[in-house]
Amino acid sequence: MSANLSIRLLHPSDAQAYRDLRLEALKSSPAAFGSSYEEESPLPIQTIKARIPVSGPNAIFGAFSDKALVGMAGFAVYERMKARHKGVMWGVFVKPDWRKQAVGKALVQQVIDHASRHVIMLEAAVGLANESARRTYHSLGFRPYGIERKAIRIGDTFYDEELLYLDLARLAGA
Ligand SMILES: CC(C)(COP(=O)(O)OP(=O)(O)OC[C@H]1O[C@@H](n2cnc3c(N)ncnc32)[C@H](O)[C@@H]1OP(=O)(O)O)[C@@H](O)C(=O)NCCC(=O)NCCS
Repeated sequence: MSANLSIRLLHPSDAQAYRDLRLEALKSSPAAFGSSYEEESPLPIQTIKARIPVSGPNAIFGAFSDKALVGMAGFAVYERMKARHKGVMWGVFVKPDWRKQAVGKALVQQVIDHASRHVIMLEAAVGLANESARRTYHSLGFRPYGIERKAIRIGDTFYDEELLYLDLARLAGA
């Protein structure tokens, strides 16, 4: 990863930059995300701000070049009592100009490190045709456990997703 790039947790004060990057992600890579530009673009900035965790295990990490947000990755723990040992990585995106420079890998590694302090299993879902994301996740230890057929629908087109897990307890013991 380039020397002038840094990764840190996003704060509510990053709401505008987060919103801009999130909308760019939803618009440019619609099949990569469960949410849509149409659903999120009308949301007021206060709603976006409230979605950035301030404490607790849930987190959004941002990759910054100087002060510009160029990539992000989110983490959330399942809320129900019997599922709180599991978390999910979501919303991984790197701006096109910054791709293939290991920014994606650095963001995902941050999520893994953070998740391993809070849960023992980390899940993710990735488009079956999304080679760059699959390669990024697989290279960091995620393993496929299934395929969700027609997981995403955009208009008349359906996209399958590969379901992935990373056994953090096993990773720690390795
Ligand atoms: C997926 C994404 C985050 C990867 O970010 P990135 O910064 O380019 O990834 P990295 O540079 O860290 O590359 C990680 C690995 O993927 C490979 N890779 C990256 N882009 C690739 C591409 N277009 N085709 C094939 N392999 C690719 C790299 O070679 C590297 O593999 P290696 O470790 O074996 O060398 C980025 O392409 C992206 O934002 N895509 C659009 C949104 C998206 O698909 N998000 C994922 C939702 S599940």
